Amino acid sequence: MVAQRVREVEISGIRKMFEAAPPNAINLGLGEPDFDPPKVIVDALCDAVRNGMNHYGPSAGLPALREKVAERYHDRVPDTSRENIIITGSGSEGLMTAALTLYDPGDEVLVPDPGFVLYAPHARLAGATPVPYPLDESRGYQPDLDELAKRVTARTRALVVNSPSNPTGGVFSKATIERLVAFAEAHELTIVSDEVYEEMVYEGQFQSVWGLTERAVVVHSFSKMFAMTGWRLGFLVAPRSLAVELNKLHYHIMACPSTPAQAAVLAGLNAEPEESREMIREFRARRELITRGLNRIPGLKVVPPAGAFYAFPRFSWPGTSQEIAGSLLQRGLITTPGDAFGTLGAGHLRLSFAASRENLRKGMGILRTYAREALAA
Ligand SMILES: Cc1ncc(COP(=O)(O)O)c(C=O)c1O
Repeated sequence: MVAQRVREVEISGIRKMFEAAPPNAINLGLGEPDFDPPKVIVDALCDAVRNGMNHYGPSAGLPALREKVAERYHDRVPDTSRENIIITGSGSEGLMTAALTLYDPGDEVLVPDPGFVLYAPHARLAGATPVPYPLDESRGYQPDLDELAKRVTARTRALVVNSPSNPTGGVFSKATIERLVAFAEAHELTIVSDEVYEEMVYEGQFQSVWGLTERAVVVHSFSKMFAMTGWRLGFLVAPRSLAVELNKLHYHIMACPSTPAQAAVLAGLNAEPEESREMIREFRARRELITRGLNRIPGLKVVPPAGAFYAFPRFSWPGTSQEIAGSLLQRGLITTPGDAFGTLGAGHLRLSFAASRENLRKGMGILRTYAREALAA
């Protein structure tokens, strides 16, 4: 009954775990901040709704918000303007819009392995073929340009880049981003750069692709930045002519993004609330806690995450990542099996540290007990 394209994609492994969880389980599975949005944003949302901002707006977003978002990029490209910005109904929608705008049936799209769960299915939904490229764990999950080059064919259309990365926590250096840009230009590929974790960097420095090439679309989101994953708002940054095409697709997906949520986010960007900086400081402290804790558990080894809010330890216990995540679930700990993120995610678990320190300690307690039993068996 359903179209072939739907038969080719599955519900993500992250959602499956979440939906199978017992009540009161400790949730280190879902990637969302355990904070409320900053007060100024919540207040602005209430005001917007009460003051009549409850109707359709422009498809590409409120002009004032587009202009404000463009300002974020002025240090890199001073003439970035609202014509470069499309406000989307989340990073997920931005990724889908980019895929449907850029990929033709038969194209090949280079996607990171391990990588975020939407890149490969979105390529398939657009009729293209995802081609995984490895991120090298021994080098902090960096891409290997020789491995990338081996995967390029006459059909390769695009390169998906994600730094800071979900699930690995890897952050690509400026030199790496520049090499990826040169690679994309040499092979005439468009870069889809998922930069939703821009604010969450603990080691090294974030580097955007914006301003380095005309062959790029930046996908971004307010979900993580403002702890408002349930509100569904994000944005795309693209060269002006491409932004016009992206907006066409975006209109056909959702007509326009939420008007009151945009008003609220604009107030947040203007206020630069202290709560946002406090959230990042807390993530940094938790990152220390989880890195130290995990590396002390027998059979676990984690590359310290340089960014985002995920630890992606490798385990040397018997069983697959699905089996182990299933056993942990029965013991009251939700994790995500590494192979939900690609073949090279096998042998790993993803743990989100966007959870309270107390829950991180309890979660690691469950892992420690599991490790003892798994290694004694
Ligand atoms: C790497 C990455 N990109 C995009 C998204 C989508 O975020 P949202 O749809 O909430 O904006 C996520 C969410 O987890 C993510 O981890």
